[in-house]
Amino acid sequence: MQIVHTIADLRAALAGQGRPAFVPTMGNLHEGHLSLVRTARQHGDIAVASIFVNRLQFLPHEDFDSYPRTWEADCAKLQAEGCDLLFAPREADLYPEPQVFKIQPDAQLADILEGHFRPGFFTGVCTVVMKLFSAVFFASGGGTAVFGKKDYQQLMVIRRMVQQFALPVDIVAGDTARAEDGLALSSRNGYLSGQERQQAMALSQALRQLAQAARSGQAPLAELEARAMQSLAAQGWAPDYLTVRLRSDLQQPASAQQLSDAPLVALGAARLGSTRLIDNLEF
Ligand code: PAF
Repeated sequence: MQIVHTIADLRAALAGQGRPAFVPTMGNLHEGHLSLVRTARQHGDIAVASIFVNRLQFLPHEDFDSYPRTWEADCAKLQAEGCDLLFAPREADLYPEPQVFKIQPDAQLADILEGHFRPGFFTGVCTVVMKLFSAVFFASGGGTAVFGKKDYQQLMVIRRMVQQFALPVDIVAGDTARAEDGLALSSRNGYLSGQERQQAMALSQALRQLAQAARSGQAPLAELEARAMQSLAAQGWAPDYLTVRLRSDLQQPASAQQLSDAPLVALGAARLGSTRLIDNLEF
């Protein structure tokens, strides 16, 4: 696996290599990321990953400084997975001057849920992804990028950005990798204490129960969502949201008909101790 740090070196390494299949990451790689790399290998001529902890998508009080950086282990995992090229820019390589031009995503999609609780998050994500796409797909004029469904809203925002800017990039979604007890794999799981780790699967369980209750129309949706939040809170969590949305646009189902028939997704975000976890379930 070749490792490059600058955009110029990346473009040079990609010249004449065909169409890249790209997996952007912030490092601290786990099985979820590696399964995205395996997917990427089936979708392009050269599998490219990036590792960059993007300051622009963290709020001042969030965990940018403490975000786990595990460079040696990440390189070994990517190498073992057959990744061909790793782009690992330093901050000065990607942001040589303050990034004053930014991508402002559609508020209807990006200011709800995660965007409501983490204002500016999707602007930071879209801005860095646009820059990474420009770096990775410059030589080939296009290719494929793989994003995990674990970050469901992020996947939808990126798809919409690609569509709105007519970017020559096919977005492929990778399924969420889970531990045996159902906990979605996440770099932030490493923050959990032993006891919190035992409780952490409660979020995916709560989403499963909410999805079942919503589909069977047991009670008005708002009531079911409130109950799900109360139940998690009673187990020591601080939930931001547990909600059922249309898969098409993440808006609330507008009718009983939609609740019983439409493709839906239950999404949740909640803090356990000082760790904020997110998860979702399509149904
Ligand atoms: O999902 C992530 O790890 C990040 O949001 C991404 C897409 C790499 C952008 O920094």
